[in-house]
Amino acid sequence: MSAVVVVGAQWGDEGKGKVVDLYAPYAHLVVRYAGGANAGHTLVVGGEKLILHLIPSGILHEETKCVVGQGTVIDPAVLLKEIRALGERGVSTLARLLISQRAHVVLPHHKLIDELREAKSDCAIGTTKRGIGPCYEDKVARRGIRMGDLLDGSRLGSNLEANLQAWRPVIKDLGGTLPDAELITAQYAELGDTLRGYIGDASAVVREAVESDQKILLEGAQGTMLDIDNGTYPFVTSSNAVAGGACAGAGVGPTHITRVIGIAKAYTTRVGGGPFPTELEDDTGQKLRDAGAEYGSTTGRPRRCGWLDLVALRYAVAVNGLDEIAITKLDVLSAVPELKVCIAYELDGQRLSHLPYEHIDAVTPIYDTLEGWDDELPSCRTRSELPIAAQRYLERIEKEVGCRIGLVSVGPDREDTADLRDPFYG
Ligand code: GDP
Ligand code: IMO
Ligand code: MG
Repeated sequence: MSAVVVVGAQWGDEGKGKVVDLYAPYAHLVVRYAGGANAGHTLVVGGEKLILHLIPSGILHEETKCVVGQGTVIDPAVLLKEIRALGERGVSTLARLLISQRAHVVLPHHKLIDELREAKSDCAIGTTKRGIGPCYEDKVARRGIRMGDLLDGSRLGSNLEANLQAWRPVIKDLGGTLPDAELITAQYAELGDTLRGYIGDASAVVREAVESDQKILLEGAQGTMLDIDNGTYPFVTSSNAVAGGACAGAGVGPTHITRVIGIAKAYTTRVGGGPFPTELEDDTGQKLRDAGAEYGSTTGRPRRCGWLDLVALRYAVAVNGLDEIAITKLDVLSAVPELKVCIAYELDGQRLSHLPYEHIDAVTPIYDTLEGWDDELPSCRTRSELPIAAQRYLERIEKEVGCRIGLVSVGPDREDTADLRDPFYG
């Protein structure tokens, strides 16, 4: 068998959706392993755009089964909306989509608490306000509601009451309106009923796929620098976005992971607060935002933009054990006359080639300047068809981070891709 992890190598929004859609025809199963509706994964096929928040990005391929694993947190109303939107496009999900009964449920008060906390400047981190943090808090505190609970009304009612006992004082303290337990129970039992045909033992299905030698693609959400343990804490999400998270989040043993592919933009973006050493708060940053349409797929917020940070990418290669990098949005750099890449940081007079544990907000990037190119790239289908300066840019990335580049994305559409190969063989 083989299992390949596709992981975000920066601060999210690297183009994981596009790449997973390209790799999915090579896989029997695509499994989302972490995060929730904070994610927004965009697929563009023949100019038509689809943004998925919870459903794996393999769903457009009829032969591929999609699983939402136990490491995720699910807002059932968002899931249902996504299923229905796909149905309206003629994409059937029944019998092809399985949601883990162990995945935790995002409840109305999770979203309320997330919003109220974000409204207080002393604890705001720029979350997506999708209730992700409070839901994972419940999971770790062992008082969460899981998707399987939605299928049993009386269990749901008693578990929910115990859960709310913990949150009522918090909500009161934040000045919010206390939730009505009975109303939530009724609403969520109904959602459970509607979704019944989709909820099941996902990790058993993944295990069977492993045992029957199937090919499994493990789809990450967010990115390495947003990982709860490896990211720029506390400005991170609340789950393990890194490749290691795929094992626990999907139910696959580490010895079954055969390859890890990191997705990175040809420059850097970040949404929300937190350190971003190569951020450009000037015209060049705005030009990247305009050329790359850098507005959040989930919240619509303008993304912060900056030069490619090779120190952060080097770190992502190490903590994910990347075998290969897929570079996206190379076309966005066309017509930028001079390109900078950050090859090291300076902190207190010292040159650092690795990410420091703290004071990331205090480092000064050390840049190398590379020649740009004018040509449009979307028609390039192999790396050798790229302008020489673009080839040099990719070679420099490989040299600095010690990892080879496989696929190169040169436009948002499925077609706009160079060097697409079977991800299971590299
Ligand atoms: P994800 O969260 O990692 O799946 O990434 P998002 O979908 O949030 O953001 C990536 C954005 O870039 C989407 O709007 C994609 O359609 C777009 N995109 C992906 N690859 C390319 C590319 O190579 N060039 C351009 N111009 N856009 C791209
Ligand atoms: P995809 O999968 C980019 C960011 C938020 C915020 C921090 C915490 O599309 O790459 P949260 O709502 O998770 O508690 O917010 O994480 N964030 C993302 N940024 N892409 C994402 O997902 C993100 N998911 C969360 O902006 O800074
Ligand atoms: Mg996104």
